[in-house]
Amino acid sequence: MSLQDSPFMQAAACKPAERVPIWIMRQAGRYMAEYREVREKTSFLELCKNPQLCAEVMITAVERLGVDAAILFSDILLILEPLGLGLEYTDGEGPVLHNPIRTPAEVDRLLELEDVGALEYVMEAVRNTRAGLPEDLPLIGFAGAPFTLAAYAIEGGGSRNYRTAKTLMYTDAGAWNAVMQRLARAIVIYLNAQIDAGVQVVQLFDSWVGCLGVDDYRRYVLPHTRHVIDALRPGVPVIHFGTGNPALLPLLTEAGGTVIGVDWRVPLDDAWQTIGYDKAVQGNLDPVILLSTPAEIRRRAQEILDQAAGRPGHIFNLGHGVLPQTPVDNVIALVDAVHELGSR
Ligand code: CP3
Repeated sequence: MSLQDSPFMQAAACKPAERVPIWIMRQAGRYMAEYREVREKTSFLELCKNPQLCAEVMITAVERLGVDAAILFSDILLILEPLGLGLEYTDGEGPVLHNPIRTPAEVDRLLELEDVGALEYVMEAVRNTRAGLPEDLPLIGFAGAPFTLAAYAIEGGGSRNYRTAKTLMYTDAGAWNAVMQRLARAIVIYLNAQIDAGVQVVQLFDSWVGCLGVDDYRRYVLPHTRHVIDALRPGVPVIHFGTGNPALLPLLTEAGGTVIGVDWRVPLDDAWQTIGYDKAVQGNLDPVILLSTPAEIRRRAQEILDQAAGRPGHIFNLGHGVLPQTPVDNVIALVDAVHELGSR
């Protein structure tokens, strides 16, 4: 089979596929013993900067789970290093960005990404992963969307209510737009380089965008995300993923993407109707379902497949990343159930 004929690429193009493809956000991660073993010897940042190990970690996960696509093993925050922020992954509080951009006066500290020289290790990871995967298994590249990266760059880490980022947005639209434009330009260079290095699809993660209302998304975010998506190499499917606020789905669709990622807060059939059947959708099982039983997982997978109703263009996934507490056997049970129940 050629890559383009694979169930994943067919679904991403909204074409009928022999079965509903499935992959899992964060499919290589701490819930997997093989990953934890690698992490005993290597810090997360060292792992991300070791292209051979990145390839191994992802290929191991893909083989173990039997999923229909691989995603580059990397992280959305790595791009912030060459933009001038200090990046650290701590055990307790998650990622920390040192010297965040908190005020309009600090915006100029955010550097312009001229080229991907400083991120060449990511391109090497793409090439190594591509070379080690079965020829017909698509590889997904990714980046954080401008809003989610801005939130990290301004907050200096995760946040409950994005107070600092939103204050900058509401008090100085010029400074806010300067940050978003600089990030958007960097993301375009970064994703196009991943495409040139060998990924077949890219996903834009707007993980924290759900903290915004519809009007603010339209005003402060949509133009920047649209700029990114419009500037990517033509013909490469783009998965545009956001979480937290189903009212944003029409605007995420408007901003662009061949596939729209949907979280579990909205029924998939409602979401798809809103998005439009000319677009593909990805989702949307609640990750916490994977902490229940194989019988419940199968029942809930069937419910989502029923909502997709056999329409072309459904990529099965969770509504957000798999949780570290998840039993691997439950993830395998989900993949097997979708393959069985989603075959035509
Ligand atoms: O398996 C895969 O999906 C590929 C790799 C991948 C990682 N991060 C590896 C990772 C991907 C696609 C990401 C994206 C990412 N990173 C997002 C968007 C997706 C989402 O979940 O919303 C975000 C917000 C980040 C930022 C980030 N990186 C956080 C908040 C954390 C710490 C908390 C957590 O969930 O682990 C990370 C670290 C990280 N990224 C780990 C992995 C496997 C865990 C690191 C460890 O081993 O301790």
